[in-house]
Amino acid sequence: MKKNIIAPSLLAAYFADLTSAITLCQKSKADWLHLDIMDGVFVPNISFGMPVIKSIKKQTDMFMDTHLMIVDPDRYTKTFADLGVHLLTVHYEACTHLHRSIQLIRENGMQAGVAINPHTPVSLLEPILSELDLVCLMSVNPGFGGQKFIINTYDKIVKLKAMIKDKNLNVRIEIDGGVTDENLEKLKQHGADTFVAGSHVFGAKNPIKTIEKLYTIANG
Ligand code: DX5
Ligand code: ZN
Repeated sequence: MKKNIIAPSLLAAYFADLTSAITLCQKSKADWLHLDIMDGVFVPNISFGMPVIKSIKKQTDMFMDTHLMIVDPDRYTKTFADLGVHLLTVHYEACTHLHRSIQLIRENGMQAGVAINPHTPVSLLEPILSELDLVCLMSVNPGFGGQKFIINTYDKIVKLKAMIKDKNLNVRIEIDGGVTDENLEKLKQHGADTFVAGSHVFGAKNPIKTIEKLYTIANG
């Protein structure tokens, strides 16, 4: 059985000292680093971009799970590949020609993911599912960390899991937003296998222990 994954989101880290945040993730049971890229257009917030990713890359070889909350992401696909990103996730709602966007990610040697907003039904992904490594179900409205988990996510996991099983695919189901040690078990039971956690990790007194706890629940 494939391993379940914990991906701390650096969005909730202290940006003036990203080195500490990266070091603690490396020392922890975290499998991936989740990088939230926001353009102030697709979402009402701006986070960080290429120069920051370049600096992060200098400090770690950890798997970079890069979540693009930007319009017209194709413009930057090659740039993210050149930066050494491993997985590039684009938003369904931001791609007019989603199939082409996915192809471009693959041609550039990265794994491909699609994220959907809380109001977007998973059924819309049916025609493209076989092309994907990961589907990111947004369990908050994208743009900010520290928001409340949206309950309809559980239903969406079940529907997506059934679609994946039906097609005999190996697509990860990632949950992004409001993930804590209180809802992770239930998310796992419903079929999710990849968990992003920002404020729950970096807002904790002991982030390494917090990641360990999430990891234990995810893989218990
Ligand atoms: C929200 C981002 C998330 C965010 C999650 O737009 O995509 O990755 O960092 O933060 P928490 O875990 O605090 O909800
Ligand atoms: Zn994210």
